[in-house]
Order: sequence, then C-alpha cells, then structure tokens
Amino acid sequence: MSSDFSEQTATEAVVQSFAATQDARLREVMESFTRHLHGFVRDVEPSQREWETAIAFLTDIGHLCDDRRQEFILLSDVMGVSMLVDAINNRLPVGATESTVLGPFHVVESPRRALGDDIATAHDSPRCLVRGRVLGLDGTPLPGALLDVWQADDRGLYDVQKADAPEHDLRGLFTTDAEGRFWFRTIVPAHYPIPDDGPVGALLRATGRHPYRPAHIHLIAGAEGHHPVTTHVFVEDSPYLDDDTVFGVKQSLVRPVTDEDDPGIAAELGLPNPFRVIDVDVTLAKA
Ligand SMILES: [Fe+2]
Repeated sequence: MSSDFSEQTATEAVVQSFAATQDARLREVMESFTRHLHGFVRDVEPSQREWETAIAFLTDIGHLCDDRRQEFILLSDVMGVSMLVDAINNRLPVGATESTVLGPFHVVESPRRALGDDIATAHDSPRCLVRGRVLGLDGTPLPGALLDVWQADDRGLYDVQKADAPEHDLRGLFTTDAEGRFWFRTIVPAHYPIPDDGPVGALLRATGRHPYRPAHIHLIAGAEGHHPVTTHVFVEDSPYLDDDTVFGVKQSLVRPVTDEDDPGIAAELGLPNPFRVIDVDVTLAKA
C-alpha cells in the first residue's frame, strides 16, 4: 500500500523513484545525491523564503556562465569541491608532481608556441624565464611531452577578463625537446581576487571570506604512457599562500623567482642580464 509523501517517507520515495534507472552508475549517484540532499534539508530546515533564496542563488550562477565566465566552477572552487574531486582522482605516488585545481580560466585553447617564446604578448613588465623538464618518476626525461600553460598578468587579470587583451595572451602550448626540457618567457603573475562581482563573491562577503588566490602559473603536463597532471607553480613570497580562497596550495608546488647572471642565455633569449628565473620540473607517474 502506498503512503503519502511526508517527512518520514520523503527520502525513500525519491530514492525508489530512481530504482529502475538502467545506468547503474547514474542510479548510484542519484540515490546518494537524494539521501545527502534530503539529509541537508532535514538538518537546515529551510523556511520557504530561504528555499527561494537558494533557488535564486543557483539561478544567478547559471545566468553568469558563458564562454568566458564560469561561475559554477567558482562555486565548486570556493566550497573546496574542486580540490576534493582533484584529490580523489589524483592519488599519485610519492615523487610525482602534485595536482591542484583547473580553475575557471582554462576557457580557451592555448596556442601552440615554440620553446623560448614570450607568452606575454602585450605587457611592459620585466620578463622572467620559466624553465624545467618533464620527467618520469625514475628521473627519465620525457621528450615530446605537452605542456599547456596559462596565467594572470602582473595586475592579476586573465586575458578573458579584459576587453582589450590580445587573443591568447599569457597562454601557450609547448612540446618538450629531446632532453625533456621546456622554457618560455613571461611576466611574473600577481595574486588576484577570483571574480567577486557575482553570487559567489556575495557568498564570500556574507561569510567574511576574502576572494584572493596567491600568484601562480597554471600547467597541464602530459606525456605518452603517463598520467597527466593539472597543477600550478605558486610564486614564493606571494600573499595568500597560506590562505588560498579555493584551497589550491600545496607546499611542493611553491617556487622562488631567482636572479640569474648569464649573458649568453640573456642574449640568446632577448632578456636583460641579470634576468629572473622560475625553475620547475614536472614529474609524471606512469599511466
Ligand atoms: Fe589562476
């Protein structure tokens, strides 16, 4: 005999409604989602007005999303969900470069560039050389590895946040040479606030949280037969290294910007001498 939908029967009724789902994984996900969502509602006991506020919040997030802005990823990021999903999916062996969030700004494809290229296409700040190798866990260099990099500028802005930025500014796709090496010129990025003029920013303000991330360069590295890694290089001494609003910092990913005096390299790469360098090797586990 069926019973009325009530506080007592609500959760089982909805779980049962998914019982005939053909896709076993979808059934598992919807059953768990129902139980956790109902548990949350039972815990919070929202008023009708609070339910309307929640619907409006999610609606506003959807309305802000387009091909240059991803407010849902921001929400996932500030709730620590992006980092949790990342951790679950990247249980890597010790020694492999640690992963961190993709973030909301990998929204355009990076252009292919040659080793040594300058990815800062419209900036006056002093250049910095970023260089390293992509390696296997045993230290073997990985030639032909792909390295996708993107970063904010020295004011903390990505190209997609600026109306006047040249296309693909501060983005590049590099292939490592025969010795697994990569190098490119850029500017040192600044720390930045995540876009906080939308509902996610309002949430941060309402809860007394700041919107800042420490300075970093994003990387995705991949090589044949290896587990790709989505990660960052964090700039040592940047503000917010201990308090990233998206929880993305891992100490193993922090690198200093050093000064190097080498007239030969400076002349070859068109850098002033001495010049600034960030050294970073990326170590990939076997797939
Ligand atoms: Fe970023």
